[in-house]
Amino acid sequence: MASDKWMLVLGIETTCDETAAAVIERRADGSGRILSNVVRSQIEEHVPFGGVVPEIAARAHVDALDGIIATAMKESAIRFPQLSAVAAAAGPGLIGGVIVGLTTAKAIAMVHNTPLIAVNHLEAHALTPRLTCALAFPYCLFLASGGHTQIVAVLGVGEYVRLGTTVDDAMGEAFDKVAKMLGLPYPGGPQVERAALGGDPKRFAFPRPMLGRPDANFSLSGLKTAVRNEASRLGTLEPQDVSDLCAGFQAAVLESTADRLGVGLRLFHEQFGPPRALVAAGGVAANQAIRGALQNVAAKAETTLMIPPPALCTDNGAMIAWAGAERLALNMIDNMEAPPRARWRLDENAGAPPGFANTRAGF
Ligand code: KG4
Ligand code: ZN
Repeated sequence: MASDKWMLVLGIETTCDETAAAVIERRADGSGRILSNVVRSQIEEHVPFGGVVPEIAARAHVDALDGIIATAMKESAIRFPQLSAVAAAAGPGLIGGVIVGLTTAKAIAMVHNTPLIAVNHLEAHALTPRLTCALAFPYCLFLASGGHTQIVAVLGVGEYVRLGTTVDDAMGEAFDKVAKMLGLPYPGGPQVERAALGGDPKRFAFPRPMLGRPDANFSLSGLKTAVRNEASRLGTLEPQDVSDLCAGFQAAVLESTADRLGVGLRLFHEQFGPPRALVAAGGVAANQAIRGALQNVAAKAETTLMIPPPALCTDNGAMIAWAGAERLALNMIDNMEAPPRARWRLDENAGAPPGFANTRAGF
């Protein structure tokens, strides 16, 4: 039985390149409110390297986290003894950063004698729409970020069935790599989207990965290689070439995503009945062209598209705090032994699709 208690939860996020902390309130009726949500991006530290450097990330989390937590507490006007629980993302992610966040949460839990909740970062993305609106289970989640590309049936707190995943690169990762090979800065997603606006999506005949396959999996590395081949065939790239390559790449991603999600929603329907919504999360969900494609997919499947506001789509502390509150309401509390985890599948009890090796994209 879910608890109908009123709760205040501090959430800590340090799994990748954002140091974040937030305080949220969960009311007795299950609705939520953000009291503070402080995010410090490390992008500037990583730009010179063209991607996230794990050691730099861990050190930056150590430097920033105490101050971020203090700011989140101050902005919420809540004192530590008032907290119902402290939640930290315990993985999956870069292990150095995960250790920093989880250890800090354990220290706070110990000092203030407050329950600890070790949150799966993917579960936090999955439950975020329930923080911003009254969305009931079950719903279908499309999670596309720098590290993950998954279609997940969200059946309840702690109840997830993965319907599809990438067999190679994550979608955000593919955007970042394409940007890098075309000389655009990190993080590449927004840059590729911008460059694509002035480009001709038909100039290059890029493949549409996995189109028409009966499963709901993704593949992005072949498409990425096709872009690389065209770019090296051209040699020197004029701005128009870059725009056309970006437009062609993005068009292929859109078509493949729409096809894969169409299958994912069909599989969802067959197994669990109609979903209450199609929910998109992760940095890639900030892409306007992808949002447009998802709108069509949802309409075709006769369901509603729900995308949390951009600040809650990308990594943040409020989503961790909210997942902590959802778990606390069900008495799902962790102890001081809770381990930091580099890999942590959302649907741990389900088997991996046959023939798929472990990749960083969610296994
Ligand atoms: O969720 P997120 O902020 O962090 C994690 O990776 O967990 O996602 C970041 C990823 C990056 O790969 C970034 O290039 C991609 O999301 N991204 C985009 C856009 N904005 C961010 N990809 C495509 N189009 C965008 N507008
Ligand atoms: Zn994330």
